[in-house]
Amino acid sequence: KTPIALPTKQSSFIKLAEEDDNPNQAILFFGSQTGTAEDLATRFAKDLTDTYGINTIVCDFEDYDMEELENWPLREDLEAHGKKWLACFFIATYGEGEPTDNAADFYEWVMNGQGKGPDEAKEDDHMTEGKVFSQLSFTAFGLGNKTYEHYNAMVRRLARRISKCGATLVTPFGEGDDDGSLEEDFLNWKDTALPAIAEYFGAKAVEKKDLPHTPLFIYKEISKITPQLESNIYYGEWSSSSPRRWKTLIPSADGTETFVSDVAPRYTEVRLKRPVRRSSTGGSNAERRNSGIEVIADMKHPYYSRMVLNKPLYSETENFDEFAFDLEHTLPESNEHYKAENGKIRINRQCYHIELDIEGTGIRYKTGDHIGIWAENDPTHVLNIARVLGVENKLDQFFELKPNPKNKTVGKLPFSLPCSIRTALTYYVDLRIALKQHHFEILSKYTKEEIDKEILWKLSIDREFFVNCVEKPQKTLYDILTEFPSVKVPLEVVLAEILPKNTLRYYSISSSSVRHPNKVSMTAVVVRYALANPAIQEISSNSSKKKVIIRQGLVTSYFQRLYNEKLLAVASNLESDKEVPIPKFHLPMYIRTSTFRLPADLTVPIIMVGPGTGVAPFRGFLWERFTAAEEGLDVGSTILFYGCRHPDLDWLYRGEMEDMMKRNLEFQNEDNSGKHFDLEIKTAFSRVPGKVKVYVQHLLKEEKQKVWDILSKKNGNFYVCGDAKNMAHAVNNTLTEIASEMENTDIEGGKNWLKDLKAAGRYSEDTW
Ligand code: 2AM
Repeated sequence: KTPIALPTKQSSFIKLAEEDDNPNQAILFFGSQTGTAEDLATRFAKDLTDTYGINTIVCDFEDYDMEELENWPLREDLEAHGKKWLACFFIATYGEGEPTDNAADFYEWVMNGQGKGPDEAKEDDHMTEGKVFSQLSFTAFGLGNKTYEHYNAMVRRLARRISKCGATLVTPFGEGDDDGSLEEDFLNWKDTALPAIAEYFGAKAVEKKDLPHTPLFIYKEISKITPQLESNIYYGEWSSSSPRRWKTLIPSADGTETFVSDVAPRYTEVRLKRPVRRSSTGGSNAERRNSGIEVIADMKHPYYSRMVLNKPLYSETENFDEFAFDLEHTLPESNEHYKAENGKIRINRQCYHIELDIEGTGIRYKTGDHIGIWAENDPTHVLNIARVLGVENKLDQFFELKPNPKNKTVGKLPFSLPCSIRTALTYYVDLRIALKQHHFEILSKYTKEEIDKEILWKLSIDREFFVNCVEKPQKTLYDILTEFPSVKVPLEVVLAEILPKNTLRYYSISSSSVRHPNKVSMTAVVVRYALANPAIQEISSNSSKKKVIIRQGLVTSYFQRLYNEKLLAVASNLESDKEVPIPKFHLPMYIRTSTFRLPADLTVPIIMVGPGTGVAPFRGFLWERFTAAEEGLDVGSTILFYGCRHPDLDWLYRGEMEDMMKRNLEFQNEDNSGKHFDLEIKTAFSRVPGKVKVYVQHLLKEEKQKVWDILSKKNGNFYVCGDAKNMAHAVNNTLTEIASEMENTDIEGGKNWLKDLKAAGRYSEDTW
C-alpha cells in the first residue's frame, strides 16, 4: 500500500522548537474555517506562555510540514536534556463531519485514507503497525455543533487515530458546541487541561495581575510606499502571512484593469499564478485550466462581483418587530428604521434580494450552493473606534506588524499586511462583536486608573460579573473604551489580540444555475434588534438608568447601506444599473459547493419546507423544475411548504410563486402540450389578526397522507431549509410522527424510518 503523501510544505515546526532555548515546547496546530479554532489555539498558547512560561508555536496545518509528526524527537532524548514537548490540536468539524479546508490534506494523511468514519479505520496499516506517533504526547480541543450530525467527528477520529498509532493523551481532549456555548465549553476544558499540562511540563503558574501585557506584534508605520514595498503587498491574500504573492488586477469602470495600492486586498480578481488545489467554484481544475480562464475565487481569494440588483422584498414600514422595556430604561432616538416611545421600540423589518454578476469569470455554481460574502464595517463604526483609539487623524497611514521578540508565542499575522489603518478597521476585523472574558485581562493592563484597573481585572476573572456586565448587554470594544476612557490600548493589540477577524458569512443561493448561470442571487433579512446596554458602572452600582441600544447584523446592514447608496447614486443621476466605479456596488464573494441538491432525475417528486428566508434555495429549485417543465420535460410532483407572518406583509417572492402556479395550471390545461409540472405551494401564516398561528409543520401534518405517499411509495426527496434550532427540529419531529403513525409503530420506529431516509440521501437540511 502506498501511503498518501502530503504536498511538501516549507515550514518546519520541529526546527522552530529545536532552535528555541526554552526546554518546554508546546506546538499548537489549528484547523479553522472561520478563524475560531485559530483564535482558541492562540489564546491557549498565550495562557501556556504567560502563566506557565512554556514556549508555544501556533501552526496552521496548511503552512507546515505535518509529516514531521512522525519525526517527533525521542522522549528519552528530550528528557536527557531536561526537555518536554507537547502537541495540541485545535480542530473544527465542518459540514457533514468533514475537516476544514486548511486541515483536509493533513487529515487525509493522518487517517491514511481511512477518514470517512470511525468504523472504517483498520488496524493493519503502516502507521498503526509502526506506531509512528509513539513519541508524541498530545491533547486536543474540538469545535463542533450539536445541531449537526457527526458532532465533533474530527477531534474524536483524530484523537482515536493518533492514539492507536502510539501517541499519549496527556489530558482528555475537549469538545465545544457552537450551538450551545463554545466559549463556555472551552473555558471549562481549559480549567482542567491547563493544570494537567503544567504538571506534565513540571511548570509553575505565575500571578499575572500585575505583570504588563506583552503584545504579540510590534506596530511599524510605513512612511513611503516604495516600488519594492509595493511588490511586497499581499494583494489578493485574505488572511495569510505566507509569502505567496499574486499580481492583482482590479477591474475598473472603463473596462481596463489597474493595479491599485490600497483597495482592500479582498476586492480583487486574482490572476492565477499557481495551480489550485481545492476549488469551490464548480468544474474541475483541469477544466478551468484548459478553458484559459484564470479567475479563481475561494475562501482566501474572493471575486469582486458586480451587484446588478438590490431590491427590498417588502414594504419596510408595515412589517416590524416590537421590543418592550420597563420605564427605567432610556430608549434611543427614533430614526427611519425604528420608532421608540413609551417603553416600546418598533423596529422595521426588511429583506433584500441581491443579484451578483459572474458572467465571463469562469466561476460556476449549482442550484442549492452557498455564497460566501465578505462584508465591510459601517464607516461610522470605523470612525468611532478610530476616535477612541486615537487614530482618527491617520486612518490612511500604512503600517506593518512585526513579531514581537519579547513574546514567546509565535503566531500568524492576523491579516494581509501592509495596509492602511482604515483598510484594517474596515475590512479585516469585526467591530460589532461582544468582547470575551480574556480580553479584559489585556485591557486591565492598559490603564493607569486604579479603579478602572480593578473593575477590568474583576471582569477577567469573575465569570458571573462578566456575563452580566458584558456578555448579556453584548458590549463591544467601542462600548468599553467609551465607558473607560482611561484605557489606552495600542492599535496593534486591538487588531491582533482583541478584535476578531471579519469572517465570511454564508448565504443559500436563491437562484437557479440552469435558469441564470451568470447571475447569483441571495435573499437576506436585515438583522436588527434592541437590547439593554447599561454602563458597567451602572450595573455594579445597581443604578436605575439603563440605556437601550439597537444592534444590526453586519452583512445585512451592509446590504441595506449598499441599497441606500444605490438610491443616492440613482438620485444623482448615476446610471447605477450599468458599470459603477469600485468599490461601490461590488461585493467580494466566492461560491461554496453544498450537498443540497435537486435529484438528477427530474421525475423524482420532491417536498420542500422553507419558511421565511429558508425559502432561498427553494426559489432556485422551483425555477429549475419550472424551466424544465417549460421545455416540455416530465417533472415530478413539486411541493413547497412556505411560511411567513402575513400574506400581505412578508410573503417572499409571492408574485413569482403565483405566476408559476398560474403557468402550471395552464400547462395542465394545454392538452397534449407535453408539459407537466404538478406544482403545489402550501402557505402557513403565523400572524394574521384573528386567526390562529399556523406553522409549516402544521401543514405538513395536515398533508400527511400525501407526504407519506411521496416519501414512502414514490421514493421522493425531502428538503428543509431555514432556522435550525426550532423550525427544522419541529419539522423533523413531525415527520417522525407521521412515519410512526403510518407504519403503525412507536416513535422509535418513526425515528428509524427517518434515519433510513437520511442514509439514503433523500432527506437534506440546509439550516442555520
Ligand atoms: P412567527 O410569526 O411565530 O415568528 C418565518 O419566520 C416564519 O417562520 C414566521 O411565520 C414565523 O412565525 C415562523 N416560525 C417561527 N418559529 C417557528 C417554528 N418553531 N417552526 C416553524 N415556523 C416557525
